[in-house]
Amino acid sequence: MTQRILTGITTSGTPHLGNYVGAIRPAIAASRHADTDSFFFLADYHALIKCDDPARIARSRLEIAATWLACGLDPERVTLYQQSDIPEIPELTWILTCVTAKGLLNRAHAYKAAVDQNTAKGEDPDTAITAGLYMYPVLMAADILLFNANKVPVGRDQVQHIEMARDVGQRFNHIYGKAWRAAGGKHDPFVLPEPAIEESVATLPGLDGRKMSKSYDNTIPLFEGGPKAMRDAIAKIVTDSRAPGEPKDPDSSSLFAIYRAFAGDAESSVFRNALESGMGWGDAKQKLCERIEAELAPLRERYDALLARPGDIEDALHAGAKKARAIAGPRIEIMRRAVGLGSLAVPADTTKAGKKADKCARIVSFRDESGFRFRLLGPDGEELLLSRAFADPRSAGQASRALSADAASMSLVVLDAARFGFTHDHATLAESITFADAADRDAALALTRTALASLREDS
Ligand code: TRP
Repeated sequence: MTQRILTGITTSGTPHLGNYVGAIRPAIAASRHADTDSFFFLADYHALIKCDDPARIARSRLEIAATWLACGLDPERVTLYQQSDIPEIPELTWILTCVTAKGLLNRAHAYKAAVDQNTAKGEDPDTAITAGLYMYPVLMAADILLFNANKVPVGRDQVQHIEMARDVGQRFNHIYGKAWRAAGGKHDPFVLPEPAIEESVATLPGLDGRKMSKSYDNTIPLFEGGPKAMRDAIAKIVTDSRAPGEPKDPDSSSLFAIYRAFAGDAESSVFRNALESGMGWGDAKQKLCERIEAELAPLRERYDALLARPGDIEDALHAGAKKARAIAGPRIEIMRRAVGLGSLAVPADTTKAGKKADKCARIVSFRDESGFRFRLLGPDGEELLLSRAFADPRSAGQASRALSADAASMSLVVLDAARFGFTHDHATLAESITFADAADRDAALALTRTALASLREDS
């Protein structure tokens, strides 16, 4: 089964080594697997919660997009976009806000920390806390649930937000799922996401040993400032005062943990032994610089080239937003209907709904000279997908059931500039017609996703 993986980066700063190790690198590696359909986005609405400097937001957006591209993200293969280019996200945020318990948000770590700080200072608990900070988890739930993401790669500090997204999605499914099914929906409106944490390296320590984070001012820059900035930061990693020759405890400084995030087990244990047998901290820092540079130097070169052409980055983001909206549009339609705002919310027993029932998408099986096939037809009888020929009716039936079971449209993929198709277990089982261009293809793909989501009975 294809897994949909989705993750966002808040555009309020410049990517640092912690972002690279904890989020960017594992997410890009995962995006290369055949069974994944990856979504990466710039969480610029989230950035507004933390930062009110427009120039910094704009610069950060560019730097982050360039970083992901430089690190090997292939925008043809994955969907890369900017949150603020997808109006369906704030729309869903409101719908979700209305099923989110206020008490749930009271427990969010970031909000609670802000309240605690105020209280500790003897201030009013809500001093300088915006409703944006309070609502942060709901916006994040919308990011994730809108696209029916299965896996969300995040740092450990974000796990609570994924749990909240599950809570909110579950609550929505509970409240509206029954009516949605009665109106013909085949699945719960939302897939419940799981966090994906790369166990060994998910939280990289910073210069002072605490989690590497902008808010602690203990970061090592990823690309900005070049190798010199990297070396200067590494020189500031806090170590104990043991002199060269004295055995060191590798686990008591960030240095070893950062090294390990870049080196394999064998290399790391050589490094560990060297520290334990007295390598000086200065030498250790030099070795760490070299190890990191070996991985990052070629990426930095690409990063610099990309930043020199911001127009190309914008183009890639706009193309990504178009792809994302082809999915988001039909999805928000489903949610609108589920809560009673959309046209299909007509009660099932009215004549009008009866007529509607005749006019819904369906799968039709047939046989021709090459074998057993099926078609997915849209509400007006138009052909959306034609399957390949199967040797026997059983395998054709299995394939069509796999299609109809996929209300989240996760197996609908773009095949080339003019066609999309339905893939299952690595095989393309059905294809669209050949369209004049990618825009026509995407429009039909969006239609097909809606059709699939509202599929009632196979016949
Ligand atoms: N809150 C995340 C962070 O600061 C960024 C983010 C926003 C995100 N929306 C998301 C991550 C959705 C994963 C999924 O790291």
